[in-house]
Amino acid sequence: MQIETSPFVFDGPAPPDDVVGRSTEIAALTDRAMHGRFVLLYAPRRYGKTSLIHRIRRDASATNELAVLLVDFLGVQTIDDMANRIGQSFRSMPDSRFASALRRRAGRHPELSAQLGVGPASLRVRKPERDAPHLLEDLLRLPYAVAEDIERRCLVVMDEFQAVADVPNAEALIRATIQHQRDRLSYLFAGSEQSVLTTIFGSQAAPLYGQAEQFRLGRLKNDDIADLVESKFESTGRTIGTALPYLLDTARGHPQRAAFLAHHLWEETDPGGSAGDDTWTRAFEAAMRRSKHEFIAVEAGLEPGQRKMARLLAWGEPPYGASAGRLGLPKGTATKAIAALERRSLAWRPYEEDLELVDPLFAAWIRERDPRP
Ligand SMILES: Nc1ncnc2c1ncn2[C@@H]1O[C@H](COP(=O)(O)OP(=O)(O)OP(=O)(O)O)[C@@H](O)[C@H]1O
Ligand SMILES: [Mg+2]
Repeated sequence: MQIETSPFVFDGPAPPDDVVGRSTEIAALTDRAMHGRFVLLYAPRRYGKTSLIHRIRRDASATNELAVLLVDFLGVQTIDDMANRIGQSFRSMPDSRFASALRRRAGRHPELSAQLGVGPASLRVRKPERDAPHLLEDLLRLPYAVAEDIERRCLVVMDEFQAVADVPNAEALIRATIQHQRDRLSYLFAGSEQSVLTTIFGSQAAPLYGQAEQFRLGRLKNDDIADLVESKFESTGRTIGTALPYLLDTARGHPQRAAFLAHHLWEETDPGGSAGDDTWTRAFEAAMRRSKHEFIAVEAGLEPGQRKMARLLAWGEPPYGASAGRLGLPKGTATKAIAALERRSLAWRPYEEDLELVDPLFAAWIRERDPRP
């Protein structure tokens, strides 16, 4: 067992200094943020959206040009939930002129300070007198007022924005409030379910139709992954030897999977040692053992047609060819299965590539168990 802690973070956003690649995206998103643009950032789960946002926030706070407010809408069900999440984001904003001005302004309004958890405790338990939509509007207006107070632009990030699609009237309410704020605020909507986000921003009947320029994160480059892995191994007195090509080949540019495999590789490498072929074999087995329950749970949520499609994709077989026939997967079922896998962000089409499973380890797990159809 390793006594030291592995230097690889693979759970939740990466520390800003560990973010590799993505320099074009960072520059473009920061530029849009400085110009009052609305932007949609899409990528499959664990592809580094939140890491990128944290990095932009850190860089912006260093130059003092832009305040960044980060709201997480994961799993919201009601307008009230959304108001709560915005309150949470105000509370967790790192100290800055913007954050103190925000708290100062909220302090003048008992309901808002209750939402923020500041002010007398008695206010916190008091039921809000105004209804949730009005409270949400007030909360959405607050950063605008603060940006005016301190004459600084603010980027409001709404992460996991796909959850908002399930909240009745939320999109219309957001649109009505934010559309006149561009002179002080910019908005970045981030999420992982492309089809849902495309409906929110791309279907003519939706309130936010056409509001946001779209960005998508692709795979990390192998060079960038290699730089990260090499430097972390080196700074902890180890070397990444012949194991590196296996790691790159297995991760296929998936950021979290690369970090997850690197973590296991590091755990299997003795202090002062080098990671070779055997180290890789042990690390890969450990990573698969650790992920097994996750994969079983994912698979349990799939219908038979979707499982067959996942198997085809895991083996890199075409979705409609002879292999699909051998599995007994008719074309109509296959098409529906693809749509379902894409909607759940289990499958995607990376830039200029064919449809494939997002998670290369899930694919490896299927290949280990089920032979090529
Ligand atoms: N640019 C990057 N450089 C280095 N590691 C990265 C990068 N992007 C992501 N990672 C790795 O991927 C992991 C997951 O990243 P993050 O939580 O930002 O993804 P996400 O897209 O926000 O995921 P989710 O959809 O689950 O919210 C991080 O812990 C880190 O190990
Ligand atoms: Mg995230």
